[in-house]
Amino acid sequence: MIHKLAEDNSPIHVVILAAGLGTRMKSKLAKVLHRVGGLSLAEHVVRAATRITAASGITVVVGHQAAEVQAELQPLGVNFIHQVEQQGTGHALLVCRETLRDAGGLLLVLYGDTPLLSHGTLQRLVDCHRRRQAAAALITTHLDDPSGYGRVIVDDQGHVRSIVEQKAATPQQLGIHTINSGIYCFDAKLLWRHIGEIRPDNPANEYYLTDIVAILNRHGHAVQALDVKDSSELLGINTRVDLAAVDKVIRDRKARQLMLDGVTIEKPETVTIDAHVTVGADSIVEPFTRLLGHTSIGEDCRIGSGSVIESSHVGDRVHIAAFSHMFRARVHDDARVGPFARLRQGADAGPGTHIGNFVELKNTRLGAGSKANHLAYLGDSEIGERVNVGAGTITCNYDGQAKHRTTIADGAFIGSNATLVAPLAIGESSYVGAGSVVTDEVPAGALALGRAHQVVKPGWVERRKRSRE
Ligand code: UD1
Ligand code: CA
Repeated sequence: MIHKLAEDNSPIHVVILAAGLGTRMKSKLAKVLHRVGGLSLAEHVVRAATRITAASGITVVVGHQAAEVQAELQPLGVNFIHQVEQQGTGHALLVCRETLRDAGGLLLVLYGDTPLLSHGTLQRLVDCHRRRQAAAALITTHLDDPSGYGRVIVDDQGHVRSIVEQKAATPQQLGIHTINSGIYCFDAKLLWRHIGEIRPDNPANEYYLTDIVAILNRHGHAVQALDVKDSSELLGINTRVDLAAVDKVIRDRKARQLMLDGVTIEKPETVTIDAHVTVGADSIVEPFTRLLGHTSIGEDCRIGSGSVIESSHVGDRVHIAAFSHMFRARVHDDARVGPFARLRQGADAGPGTHIGNFVELKNTRLGAGSKANHLAYLGDSEIGERVNVGAGTITCNYDGQAKHRTTIADGAFIGSNATLVAPLAIGESSYVGAGSVVTDEVPAGALALGRAHQVVKPGWVERRKRSRE
């Protein structure tokens, strides 16, 4: 049968195979949910696929922990197809046939475990497929150590004749260093016509997608290889060793990009910066810092060694001293935080605030210019501007059953070691004496003392000595 190949402007549909458990990971977690560079393996692949021009849709084949994989990828606007039993990569694609067979055009097939793949390389594969009018094109590369990968058999004309899996290869075939990256571009109609011919006739009893190459050849269709010289992009993750290696590559890329954009990173090999993090120019990131999730850091900041900042926002000219921890918190311009400060969920430190060592904020707003310099816990509080919170101050926000709020108005002075029992309101420019336990409202301008009167007994030491003689 003469087949008219897909046109140049034909739509491209992408299928990502992500149903396997990934036995070699030795994990309870499905392989594609493991993370590198702060994103799941599957999300990396989806993100590369979404950048392909003319991509009309992305379908992800899910199986192991399907609900979790779907929850992870749903926000990216992809479709899902279930592969209930994982009978191999060929079978994973076969279960898509009913849904996708009428789509026509090109079908790009990717595996969910190759997170370094760039959209540029994918685009090159599509272009190669179109230019050479092939039935299929796939990405190959040369590896010094090809073990674990399918070996690609290429003829004199450069056409791919077949792919042999490691488990099924002869000793001679095992000596081939050209490997299958697992990234394919098919003429969709041809693929759907012949995919049913894949048989599980191999030692693993699986339907190997790679067998489609020999099948297409048998029907007289040419399969092309796009050989990519830089093999690092094509690394597939099968074990935790691969996971660490790929994570390093992604971290290095991220740090490098930030440095090229004007961020100083001291000892960049020691920092961990997630994909979505932004850092402004002339900020300095000290060694062993971790910037995670959707964190943004402004310009001219210094992020101290060993700090961990997750899903948080830091303004401009902020100094976060060593070993501080932030989670879903915000610090505004010109503030100083740490060392050893902890800003938990809902902490919001206004412009020019000072938060010193061993100070913890949770669900608390600290107004502009306010200071809590040492050893304090401020929870569920609304604190005004220019407030001074003395060392050892505690908001007692929890009565064993419910949380209560503390409000401290502008300009108040809270003496050291105050115990503020919520619910509590402390008025503007008032004073709380050091060591006070404060349970009642303090009006504006007042001094509140909630401590025992000091007793002094002159000569007491001498008297005691004598009474013991
Ligand atoms: C596969 C290729 C191999 C290639 C290598 C590149 C086959 C038979 N072999 O081997 O030629 O060199 O990738 O990395 O395709 N999956 C499913 N359903 C299944 C089985 C797998 O969705 O029933 C998914 C997995 O979740 C994974 C991907 O397919 O994301 C690849 O599966 P994997 O078992 O890692 O294949 P490899 O043995 O690495
Ligand atoms: Ca793999």
